[in-house]
Amino acid sequence: QSILKTTLIGSDVHYYSELESTNNTAREIAPQVSEGTVIIAETQKSGRGRLGKEWQSVSGGLWLSLILKPSIPLENLSRVTLVAGIAVTNALRSMGVDAHIKWPNDVLVKGKKICGILTEVSAEIGKVDYVILGIGINVNVKLSELTDDVRRNSTSVSNEMGKPLDRTSFLASLLYELEQQYIRFKTRQFAEIVDEWINLSDTIGRNVRVKTPAMLIEGKAIGITEKGALVVLDQNDKKHEIIAGNCRYSD
Ligand code: BTN
Repeated sequence: QSILKTTLIGSDVHYYSELESTNNTAREIAPQVSEGTVIIAETQKSGRGRLGKEWQSVSGGLWLSLILKPSIPLENLSRVTLVAGIAVTNALRSMGVDAHIKWPNDVLVKGKKICGILTEVSAEIGKVDYVILGIGINVNVKLSELTDDVRRNSTSVSNEMGKPLDRTSFLASLLYELEQQYIRFKTRQFAEIVDEWINLSDTIGRNVRVKTPAMLIEGKAIGITEKGALVVLDQNDKKHEIIAGNCRYSD
């Protein structure tokens, strides 16, 4: 009997002991597989983070990519990332870990990163064909196995709980949360999702510095738009809607 309580997410799970990147494998097979297929690797040789950064993927973590095929316009892609952040945060909280989301998609515990999400897409003429939702969670990662610069800003579930977590049951609960959130995403107003995201996040109300390819914006984070953009109010009371960028808290 399966331990999964889902029908769509995880309907097919491909498990590998090692891959370059689960996002790459997911992208290759996406056209041939059904929505909800999950690719998991025990370790990744070239795990990727946002903004071209490396993602250290030692054993003990949960490195997975989920293939979704939502019929949404490309401009709504950021919504999917917010949905994934909610699911991961709920799954961690259900294990007793005090997780918060930092816009757009980092999950932090006491200010340290425990999970990163990398959303990639294949789209033609503004319409999404499939979405690759790459999720990396430091479940039983030994912080001593990370390089100094990454370790300084990272934590893991086992580090927070003082003991390793059963990864299989955590995966089952993560896939369950992803399915609940994805169903809601498809059937409900996005405003409902924004409300929950804001509840689980510690970004709104904070002073932030957000770096985008075009500029650096400093101000107070005051909300999330319909498209999943962060709204920042700068010192001159000018509102900026930032769809993608690197966010730091400045207080
Ligand atoms: C980030 O915070 O910069 C995003 C990190 C995303 C890491 C995950 S691990 C599974 C998937 N495969 C990858 O190569 N990256 C994502």
